Amino acid sequence: MTERIVSGMRSTGKLHLGHYLGVIQNWVKLQKEYESFFFVADWHALTTKYDNTANLKQDVKDVVIDWLACGIDPNISTIYVQSHVPEIAELNIYLSMITPQNWVERDPTLKDMAKILRTKEGANSQVSYGLLGYPVLMSSDIMMFNATAVPVGIDQVAHLEFTRDVARRFNNIYKTEFFKEAKPLLNECSLICGLDGNKMGKSFNNDIKISDTAEETAKKIMTAITDRSRLRKTDLGHPDQCEVAFKYWEIFGTPEQIQKVKTECEQGLRGCADCKRELAAVINEYFAPIREKRRYYEEHPEEVTEIINDGSAKARQEAQKVLKEVRKIVGMY
Ligand code: TRP
Ligand code: SF4
Repeated sequence: MTERIVSGMRSTGKLHLGHYLGVIQNWVKLQKEYESFFFVADWHALTTKYDNTANLKQDVKDVVIDWLACGIDPNISTIYVQSHVPEIAELNIYLSMITPQNWVERDPTLKDMAKILRTKEGANSQVSYGLLGYPVLMSSDIMMFNATAVPVGIDQVAHLEFTRDVARRFNNIYKTEFFKEAKPLLNECSLICGLDGNKMGKSFNNDIKISDTAEETAKKIMTAITDRSRLRKTDLGHPDQCEVAFKYWEIFGTPEQIQKVKTECEQGLRGCADCKRELAAVINEYFAPIREKRRYYEEHPEEVTEIINDGSAKARQEAQKVLKEVRKIVGMY
């Protein structure tokens, strides 16, 4: 039997190139080798945004449209929405009971999220019970399908370790071997930084969206940081100190293009503005077919809804099988 993978993304709305290179590209490859479940984690989005849900539904849809555009194939992968599979919430209850309080309290990402929350005004400025339970809910997502592997970025590895600990504890407590231990499937792809050299992120205003037009992309690329010591085109450049633009070249350029940029930059034969204009054209060419496909789904929202509904129904069927076993093992009525 083929191995099963599960992975999800919070519903943060339109995705950026960091999502594409760091996660989605990996999923597109893996879906051909594994039985794949990909979902939008809208409950996880609520852990920090429960007071701002006006765009939640559209955010979920935008995420799925980006996935479809990038090549996640609904004919071979199961695409679903977390909250459409209520079985996950029941499993979350059982797992919450057996998870020690200090395990959730020492979750390293909790501290980062708490820091973000403290910058907000009003009621939503402190850690809620739900946010504290973030890693338990994530364990539920994974264990709901008894997956053996989870393709994620490096930032989620601690959560997977947590999930394995919970699975092991469940098996120990109930003297079973029912739950498998899921291992991370890391992407070997290089991380793309934001236009300002920091981590690419929506809230940092330094991202390029998959859904950006060619014009928007070009305009953003022109703001990318280059070799700061370089003032004139004839100044000898240092590609290794070109903090953003050259790094993008290394991701999107062919080996020949990269070599050419490097040599011309080092010899003072290439101006940064021209260099970035050329880079924008290369990136736009790369994303042209993806953006075309995206436009198609944007114009056919009913197809997207159908994909989500079909996928969620299929996911529920699988989840119900697992939940039936879990209830029995736990000893529920
Ligand atoms: N925590 C993940 C993130 O922030 C999203 C997520 C939720 C997830 N549940 C998951 C990822 C289960 C993999 C498996 O990106
Ligand atoms: Fe960077 Fe290109 Fe400028 Fe060289 S010419 S510093 S590679 S943007």
